[in-house]
Amino acid sequence: MIEEIREGFSATFGTEPEVISFAPGRVNIIGEHTDYNGGLVLPAAIRYGTYVAVSRAADGKIEVYSENAGWERWDAGVFERRGNFGDYLRGVLKFMEAPAEGLRAYIKSSLPVGSGLSSSAALEVSFALAIQKIFSLDISGIEIVRVCHRAESEFVGVRCGIMDQFVSFFAKKEHLILLDTQSLHHEYIPFPSSLTLAMVDTGIRRSLSSSRYNQRREECRRALEAVKKLFPDVENLSQVNEEMLLSTRPLMDEASFKRAMHVISENQRVSLLADFLRAGDLCMVEKIMKLAHQSLSEDFEVSLPDIDDLVEKISSLPFVYGARLTGAGFGGFLIVLLLKGREKELQRSINQPLLFSRPWSGAELLYSVP
Ligand code: GLA
Repeated sequence: MIEEIREGFSATFGTEPEVISFAPGRVNIIGEHTDYNGGLVLPAAIRYGTYVAVSRAADGKIEVYSENAGWERWDAGVFERRGNFGDYLRGVLKFMEAPAEGLRAYIKSSLPVGSGLSSSAALEVSFALAIQKIFSLDISGIEIVRVCHRAESEFVGVRCGIMDQFVSFFAKKEHLILLDTQSLHHEYIPFPSSLTLAMVDTGIRRSLSSSRYNQRREECRRALEAVKKLFPDVENLSQVNEEMLLSTRPLMDEASFKRAMHVISENQRVSLLADFLRAGDLCMVEKIMKLAHQSLSEDFEVSLPDIDDLVEKISSLPFVYGARLTGAGFGGFLIVLLLKGREKELQRSINQPLLFSRPWSGAELLYSVP
């Protein structure tokens, strides 16, 4: 792949890249909409991701060619929001405080865009890693994660949590990451060797997802505001238990109550699922996955009837140990835990396109000029 990216860069710019980086997309096994509520998540990186090849240019111009999205050009040091993929890159350069120098960048991704497999985090993290190397910036891994998170939430304007950028950078092969999004304390949980991951495309694209995503955040914020009236020390919904929520229910609207209910129960499910994975109890894993999808559908309301039907159909297959909607919701992909070796059977049982992966490792520099 490195050769292909290098050739792509040379064919585009007529020179050689100085750096080539890769960052993976991710799939979240469980812990949905908890990361911006200070809660727990359990994602894994996947083998699909984004390659970035970069070199410096003396003309003060930044020119980027993306195989998916085409050309984007701007002057170094200018951070204008244009509503296209260049915003992710400008956001990274801005918050990284990178030197205002010219650049050429070539981007190729194996991730379906806008699918809920974190194509945007993979782009941010891969680009940030390349920029760190090219300018020899003294910045740690966790700072890169924070820069990328700020690029997406403050510059692009999708007020996402930190899960996607974190896993894209810190993932470990054959492991899931159990991440506490408040403390950023994390633990690697070995992925059962008998299972593999499938990502099933629901075929429903999430064009409105960012605005509806921000709406869900707003509903969670309203729930927290109401809880704080009785429990002023509470900082986020993950510090609220069911009893506290029920006692403040009259102070909030029904939608906010249901969103908060999901967050509280989802945090419990993440801990339980991690425990059952450690114990190798796949029957309980399956049960928890089922409850998680139900909660996303009924309490968080980010599913759709067609998606619920597909989840049910896949969950009932004898070699499947859990299926649910993954990522922001409103379409995109399902995560399916299935027995290794039964991939073809899954493919034959449904009409949807699908991807397979083992849990993959985080971002890496693939090449840099000596
Ligand atoms: C999107 C966001 C994540 C997370 C999920 C929902 O993927 O980017 O930060 O909030 O939705 O769990």
